[in-house]
Amino acid sequence: MFSLQNKVAFITGATGGIGEAIARTLAAQGARVALGGTRVEKLEALAADIGGDALTFPCNIAESGSEKVIEEVAAKAGRLDILVNNAGITRDGLAMRMGDKDWQDVLDVNLTAAFRLSRAALKIMLKQRHGRIINIGSVVGSSGNAGQTNYAASKAGLIGLSKSMAQEVAARNITVNVIAPGYIATDMTAKLNEEQQQRIIGHIPSGRMGQPNDIAASAAFLASDEAAYVTGVTLHVNGGLYFM
Ligand code: NAI
Repeated sequence: MFSLQNKVAFITGATGGIGEAIARTLAAQGARVALGGTRVEKLEALAADIGGDALTFPCNIAESGSEKVIEEVAAKAGRLDILVNNAGITRDGLAMRMGDKDWQDVLDVNLTAAFRLSRAALKIMLKQRHGRIINIGSVVGSSGNAGQTNYAASKAGLIGLSKSMAQEVAARNITVNVIAPGYIATDMTAKLNEEQQQRIIGHIPSGRMGQPNDIAASAAFLASDEAAYVTGVTLHVNGGLYFM
């Protein structure tokens, strides 16, 4: 696909459906992967299965100060070329009944952590004069979705963040982009019951939910040297569910 030889990639939420697929795909293209996440045993099992020199970095990115993990990755792996801000959570509910905690928890993980980790990564990437930041957004960041004001706001925030940061660092050969998945078959969508899943599939022109590998292939492209001239964009990967 795209060569990522000699590149080091840190992926948050690497034990989740999409994160794992991204980690496996980047590793298959030659990158050394550093896996972030909260579930230590799963992280270690994944690193062992990927093999080679995969590294694990257990951390809860909701905590302020957790972005020091970026320096730890660079110290252990010698560099950091690719940051994939993939970890994300939902706390769904109608706006009228949504508590402050459900709002804040989602913003903390999906948006604030992505900012803090990117800020820390930029310090290293600016010195290297090379870097790729890939933020995993969502179609609902553009379309909106009833019951997800917190989640949609966090994902829309990633788009503004990425466009702004992209302008700040483009001259240093650092790109900042968003991948906005539609509905992808992972634990996150497994929470939907069969009827909800069928209703959603009925609205997807491709006639199926996406697979984690559909997202991972886009990440491999955006992480590559070949994508050097692509920055500040949101790449929608949604089977035709929503056109921008
Ligand atoms: P998932 O629930 O399978 O994985 C999420 C991962 O994030 C898990 O590994 C979890 O441990 C990690 N995580 C959550 N909170 C964390 C924290 N505080 N610190 C560190 N890690 C934490 O979900 P999935 O589907 O793989 O989602 C990955 C990304 O894709 C998320 O950002 C999600 O919002 C986004 N997305 C998913 C879609 C889907 O249909 N599955 C659609 C659109 C976007």
